[in-house]
Amino acid sequence: MLIHSHPYGYQPPQATEITPEHLFRQRRTLLQFGGGLGLLGLAPGVSSAADSQAPGSGKLQALVRQTSGVDGAQTMEKWTPYKDVTGYNNFYEFGTDKSEPAQYAHGLKTKPWEIAVEGLVRRPGKLGLDELLRLAPLEERVYRLRCVEGWSMVIPWVGYSLSALLKQFEPLGSAKFVEFTSAVDPNSMRGVRSNVLDWPYTEGLRLDEALHPLTLLALGLYGEVLPNQNGAPVRLVVPWKYGFKSAKSIVRIRLTDRMPTTAWNKAAPGEYGFYSNVNPNVDHPRWSQGTERRLGEDGLFSRKRKTLMFNGYEAQVGQLYAGMDLRRYF
Ligand code: MTE
Repeated sequence: MLIHSHPYGYQPPQATEITPEHLFRQRRTLLQFGGGLGLLGLAPGVSSAADSQAPGSGKLQALVRQTSGVDGAQTMEKWTPYKDVTGYNNFYEFGTDKSEPAQYAHGLKTKPWEIAVEGLVRRPGKLGLDELLRLAPLEERVYRLRCVEGWSMVIPWVGYSLSALLKQFEPLGSAKFVEFTSAVDPNSMRGVRSNVLDWPYTEGLRLDEALHPLTLLALGLYGEVLPNQNGAPVRLVVPWKYGFKSAKSIVRIRLTDRMPTTAWNKAAPGEYGFYSNVNPNVDHPRWSQGTERRLGEDGLFSRKRKTLMFNGYEAQVGQLYAGMDLRRYF
């Protein structure tokens, strides 16, 4: 099925639209045991009864063709409840309190939207949202995201590897880094009227990090288009780095030969380095990085979890940092 108009214009799912956890699990188990769909007489990509009850049915879910074949892109850990994923956010453009993005981000206009890709590429240009949605097959990727503040989530994202986009613009041999710039709209973003960060929000990756298959350009979560507070309409998700490396509401991607300055590094260079890899052995000056609290699990008896090197993605990304002193390059 070809989708002729993109599904933006986010509406929060109704309670009745949300698939009970066990149906999600069941569907995923079927997908994981690939033959299962065949046994049921369904071709891959054809909706099952469970699919038709998924949140976002007829929206982004309908475009998701496959679970990802990328190594490390799935985890069997319990998904963080939708209400926590969308109700406890860092998006300083809408305020510094975790509840403010959900409260104020609805005013952000995400349609039309364009990302400019420029700098050291053979074919600079712009992509609209329809083009972004069709650039590569959308995949579901279930990643852990750990914030430097000590909380973490497990989120079923929808998107594809950023490398698919970058390759279309043909990076030049001289490109070594990628800079990401978020939108600034003083009308809808009350936070940018304060100088808590140097706007626009920028982030950066080394080119090999940006091209790593785990680095995700996300257009949705939980089968839905991205809620505004999570960085609609398009954001980055870099699962082995602290959450702040995952820039939201991106309008510009620039390839460069110099390490870009980043919003958090400019705000507090001693606290936020360029790399910001999740590393339980290197504490942040204010927060231990050894353990984490999984959102949605807070209860009287919930225990803290041990934070894993590179957030548990060491097998996939450790090689990128071979021989580097990660205390110095934090
Ligand atoms: N992107 C922009 N543009 N502005 C921000 O304030 N906060 C970062 C990151 N991306 C931020 C941003 C931080 S600190 C975190 S932890 C994650 O987004 C949070 O993503 P989430 O709200 O979807 O969990």
